[in-house]
Amino acid sequence: MAGSRAERLAKPVTLYACTACGAVTAKWSGRCESCGAWNTLEEQAAPRPLPGGLKESRRAGTRIEFVGLEGTTPPPPRVPTTIAEFDRVLGGGLVPASVVLVGGDPGIGKSTLLLQASAALGRAGREVVYISGEESIGQIRMRAARLGLTAAPLRLAAATQLGDILASLPQFPEAALVVIDSIQTMWTESVDSAPGSVTQVRASAFELIRAAKTQGFALLLVGHVTKEGALAGPRVLEHMVDVVLHFEGDRGHQFRILRGMKNRFGATDEIGVFEMTGRGLAEVANPSALFLAERRGNVAGSAVLAGLEGSRPVLVEIQCLLAPNPGGAPRRSVIGWDAGRLSMLLAVLETRCGLKLAMNDVYLNVAGGLRVTEPAADLAVAAALISAAADVPTDPEMVFFGEIGLSGEARQVAQTELRLKEAAKLGFTRAAGPKRVAGGAARMNVPKSLTLIEIGHLTDLVGVIAARPRGTAKQKEAG
Ligand code: TYD
Ligand code: MG
Repeated sequence: MAGSRAERLAKPVTLYACTACGAVTAKWSGRCESCGAWNTLEEQAAPRPLPGGLKESRRAGTRIEFVGLEGTTPPPPRVPTTIAEFDRVLGGGLVPASVVLVGGDPGIGKSTLLLQASAALGRAGREVVYISGEESIGQIRMRAARLGLTAAPLRLAAATQLGDILASLPQFPEAALVVIDSIQTMWTESVDSAPGSVTQVRASAFELIRAAKTQGFALLLVGHVTKEGALAGPRVLEHMVDVVLHFEGDRGHQFRILRGMKNRFGATDEIGVFEMTGRGLAEVANPSALFLAERRGNVAGSAVLAGLEGSRPVLVEIQCLLAPNPGGAPRRSVIGWDAGRLSMLLAVLETRCGLKLAMNDVYLNVAGGLRVTEPAADLAVAAALISAAADVPTDPEMVFFGEIGLSGEARQVAQTELRLKEAAKLGFTRAAGPKRVAGGAARMNVPKSLTLIEIGHLTDLVGVIAARPRGTAKQKEAG
């Protein structure tokens, strides 16, 4: 019995990998069952089984030493890039011999960010190697000139042949960072499939990662993102690297957000905020001021969320527009927030507060291109919806935060003090948040310049907004 199993395993199997999503299947078909793309399955060389089957693999091997959970390990050393917003997302800087994948839409600014980070590190006295497979030396020099970085010491090359790159890297035994822009352009002879295919990308990344681990440099890989938001083809790469960062933003806006998706050395909920200027990416140390810069007071349908991104409070404006839709299914369009969460809030507002929204199209937008994921946004979204439905602007000096439960109750959220402090710092004088419960939160410090309006239930919020003057056209103009 065991023998026949080993024989079966020894038989070479042909596997097919999807070039779009990386899914592997044993059966060829015209359409990938995983992502639905057509004509993307290509044959993949299967790992050759050991001669003699299972028995062979059992023979060699030394004993592993097993240990307990106690004992301390020093935190990994860090090489700060000196770009504070970048370091924040990395968890304090680059970790030597670690691998960071930076993904993002084409044109969002990945090359700009990495050139700036490389130059900063070079200026700080570290050896940095920058290899571009996308642009010529001339193009990179032009960008460097635009960014005012031509004097920064950098080892620059334009190359795509992985064999050449790996043969050249040992010239720089002291290198702290190697940048590869982008992994999709790299090409290794060790596998015979086309550049950009999943097999190529995976094999190239594997060889580069091995070089990083043996030579000890931090490796930064740029990866392009497909329309669907997956790192093009190689989702597999996300498992191979230590840190996955997404560089995102709306190309129509100047804000860019570097978001941690995975981090073996730190928290993943941190964001770095940048502004794309004519001279490259500028760090935004105070994102709240930036996100609120274009806010117009006294417009119905707008509310300021006292939000939190990672360890940092961020104030953002939530905008809502209701448009009558007497027939057909009403539209629910959301940018920057979860559509399912909006449906839930609409249902709660209808059933618990008697708001009539079913005959309206609802458009919700988080201003500035930020994507908000925390439950504390519920109360601010509800405020924007109530304000729009009642045509009453919210108090321009008030911020909102809190989670809403299905019965309409407001629930506590994390870091209330931090939110209030940020709101006070930006000149807000009132905050609407969940009722304080006995215990820790009751002893909370509320800044002197700010009044906390406690919301027990959504109906309280309706009361707070309804008490304000209606948003006549004249008032809107004045705002
Ligand atoms: P880039 O870094 O090439 O994007 P990616 O590598 O993600 O494809 O950035 C391209 C865009 O950034 C381009 O549309 C121009 C803009 N940009 C600026 O606005 N200011 C600058 O200083 C630079 C270098 C680029
Ligand atoms: Mg680029």
